[in-house]
Amino acid sequence: MKFDILTLFPEMVTGGLNTSILGKAAEKKLIEINAVNIRDYTLDKHGKVDDYTYGGGAGMLMQAQPVFDAYQAVAGGRKLRTVYVTPQGMPFTQKLAMDFAREEELVFLCGHYEGIDERVLEEIVTDYISIGDYVLTGGELPAMVMIDAISRLVPGVLGNEGSAEKESFHNDLLEYPQYSRPEIWHGKQVPQVLLSGNHKLIGQWRREQSELRTRERRPDLYLRYEQKQKLYKKLSKDKRNHIQFMESLFRGKGEILYAQDGNVLLYDADCRLCMMTVESEEKGRQLLELVPEGIELFLNSQEFMNKAVCERFSFVVFHECHQVCYTKKEALPIKHKDIRLLGPEYLEDIAAHYHMGSREYVKGRLLAKAMYGAFADERLVGFAGVHDDGSMGLLYVDEAYRRRGIGESLEAYVINILCRQGYTPYGHIVVGNEASLKMQERLGLYLASDHVWWLGREDW
Ligand code: ADE
Repeated sequence: MKFDILTLFPEMVTGGLNTSILGKAAEKKLIEINAVNIRDYTLDKHGKVDDYTYGGGAGMLMQAQPVFDAYQAVAGGRKLRTVYVTPQGMPFTQKLAMDFAREEELVFLCGHYEGIDERVLEEIVTDYISIGDYVLTGGELPAMVMIDAISRLVPGVLGNEGSAEKESFHNDLLEYPQYSRPEIWHGKQVPQVLLSGNHKLIGQWRREQSELRTRERRPDLYLRYEQKQKLYKKLSKDKRNHIQFMESLFRGKGEILYAQDGNVLLYDADCRLCMMTVESEEKGRQLLELVPEGIELFLNSQEFMNKAVCERFSFVVFHECHQVCYTKKEALPIKHKDIRLLGPEYLEDIAAHYHMGSREYVKGRLLAKAMYGAFADERLVGFAGVHDDGSMGLLYVDEAYRRRGIGESLEAYVINILCRQGYTPYGHIVVGNEASLKMQERLGLYLASDHVWWLGREDW
């Protein structure tokens, strides 16, 4: 992902962003920081970029010409998503960070002095964003804050097992207290449970502490957490039919846009995906009005809403699917022994055989460490993975290696990993794929009574 930062102080931005995790990400070419000095583009022979404000008032204003020319130098005729960092903008949130993380290139415009001539803002800015209700001396620090938050969501940047995708309900809670050596400091003892070695008890204690801390310090967040918990419990009464909603909430991906009676609308900003179940078409049509701009996919629980969804977003129905989930606790046996986590070097092998998502999508899955491969004689002969919404899929086995249990082994492998991570493995099987359905049954997955429909843009 490329960040172009239009600024009067490029050294401030590059100095701050070229170290630590982001520095490493830039070295690995996962992100690129392009700081552009607006002053290099002024036509004023003394290098001036600011002037007095018409109508009077204290301070100087950045002029339109150098800002516009700096933008043109970067955009070269393209229309790029351009963020003007300003205390007058919308508050920056994790959700917005997810939204921005989907762009391939993002421009940040950093103001100074009293601001920037309105006319150039009108021509180039797409988003006005603030990092909080206070005023700083310039836009560089806010731009750096946002770039940090966005970059850690770019697949591969965090790189470790604690990646952003692995967060669960904990997303809505503040972190629990943590302790390091020594065991006693200033007479204060580390809580006994943390020394117990009992991971289940430790997990419980941490969850309780997180809840307590959130309730005390951020009652607004706690309210949201409670709402999700309540909805999760309600949905769990029919787990097989609601598994996609439940896993989305549990993974901390789905935000509740509406939940009342039998009407639920969730939005996963990361996947730009909405999921809906409603009691009537009329209610469904009302809820479609709550759907944010720019959604790319829709998972519909009822066929009677397909027409309305397609009309509203110019979508088509991709697939009608069965839902299956694995709710047992036992790990599954795996017949094919050579299954490994796949790295980005397998992109071409996978893209050649997987056609239900773009090459970029597959790359993202590899970087998120969500793809596994079956090998025979050191050759990749099949793969499976976890989609960005949390469902299992991306399954393929080479023609010459079919009917040997490799597909089944791959799915069992993914199931065991998801179970170890605390998730409920689930997936969608296109109606008519009887071979896959039989395999799900053999593996012990349960079939939901209702179907679901995947809708999206024709060219997705
Ligand atoms: N520029 C100055 N103050 C700011 C803030 N709070 N957020 C974003 N940009 C700013």
